[in-house]
Amino acid sequence: MWSSRIAFIAAATGSAVGLGNIWRFPYITSENGGGAFVLIYLACIALVGLPIMYAEIVIGRRGRMSPINSLRELSTTSNASRNWAFIGVIGIMAGFMILSFYSVVAGWTLHYGFHYFKEWIGVGAPITDPGATFGALLGNAGELTFWHGLFMLMTVGVVGFGVEKGLERAVSVLMPVLMVLLLVLLGYGMNTGHFQEAVGFLFKPDWSQVSGSMFVTALGQAFFTLSLGMCAIMTYGAYLPANVNIPRVGVAVAGADTFVALVAGLAIFPIIIANNIDPGSGGAGLIFTSLPLAFAEMPFGIFYGMLFFVLLSVAAWTSSISLMEPATAYLVESTNLSRKAAALIVAGLSWLLGLASVFSFNLWSEVKIIGRSPMDAIDYVATQIMLPVGGLLIALFAGWVLSSKITREELDEKMPNWAYQAWLWITRVVTPALILVVLGGILNIF
Ligand code: TRP
Repeated sequence: MWSSRIAFIAAATGSAVGLGNIWRFPYITSENGGGAFVLIYLACIALVGLPIMYAEIVIGRRGRMSPINSLRELSTTSNASRNWAFIGVIGIMAGFMILSFYSVVAGWTLHYGFHYFKEWIGVGAPITDPGATFGALLGNAGELTFWHGLFMLMTVGVVGFGVEKGLERAVSVLMPVLMVLLLVLLGYGMNTGHFQEAVGFLFKPDWSQVSGSMFVTALGQAFFTLSLGMCAIMTYGAYLPANVNIPRVGVAVAGADTFVALVAGLAIFPIIIANNIDPGSGGAGLIFTSLPLAFAEMPFGIFYGMLFFVLLSVAAWTSSISLMEPATAYLVESTNLSRKAAALIVAGLSWLLGLASVFSFNLWSEVKIIGRSPMDAIDYVATQIMLPVGGLLIALFAGWVLSSKITREELDEKMPNWAYQAWLWITRVVTPALILVVLGGILNIF
């Protein structure tokens, strides 16, 4: 049981805030042309993300077990089919797939942290051409595999070997420091003379640019950044004390996550514009090719760069834990494997699948799956399809299968009735309809 509301908010925010905010959000915003995309993304957070976050916490707290067993138990007591537990299976698979490439990108951040460390102690060469430095890293399959493996081991360490006590204490200090670093970068960006342009790029919508795929991408990002659609937040909800107000903690977590993403965007785009990089050029390397330009100029830039990438790795670490936990918990419950063995198996398989992402940039750079590189294909199927499908089913389950007596109790009886009715009908109708329209767009139904 979490000791308090704050402990739950810290754990859920630790899961939510990660590479999704600081690496993925800027780069897909860049690829999707800014303003209009950002507004669609914010709408997805409010109309799809938040209601599903409530739904996941409600199911988790009511079930008090791992996702599959909670869903099975709650469907039995609601006289519904036990097949609803399948949501947990989709979640396990989606988490496993996301972890595979998440760990590769977290490996890049570890590598950059180490690079700046070497430079700081005077044994490494400075980054003079960030594009070339990043390109060289991507070309080196062995190097990428090593850092990917190291990050996966760090994740197993927590999930399988229970080293979370120390991590928890460290994180409660380190994450605020990361936030301060971002705010300082934001201040630096404001001084580049291009802050206004960056604000315009991020918030001035050019509706002529809107396309169907933008909605698909924005919806996927809303799920990804809030850790929704795969029962991760449900797992955390199982430990939430009964007297904690779910709407309040949900807003706190979603608000903090959105704030970090927007600050990251506002910090990064002025640097991009000031260095004459086309803000729409995008690419998964965006932060790795732009931030070093700022670190090269700032006072104490080397130390700063080291701190930034190390702390970003820590933020990724607290997120990857929640990606690995559901699959591990499932193996522990349904086989007679020990927790250590289960975690090692999940990590080993996910590491193996991650090699497809590693090779996307070198050995397999010509390979295309559904028109994408192997890494983008895995990201696309898990983030853009599986998370929304999971979220759709979670919303339907919470809205229609659970009795409104249960959801009313869980969402706090002190909540005004209109607010509860608003959640109920958004979750029953609006959220599923939006997800269905977007998924229908992928399948070219509309
Ligand atoms: N939300 C995390 C991030 O933004 C990634 C993450 C952790 C995640 N757990 C998840 C994404 C569950 C989807 C589902 O970096």
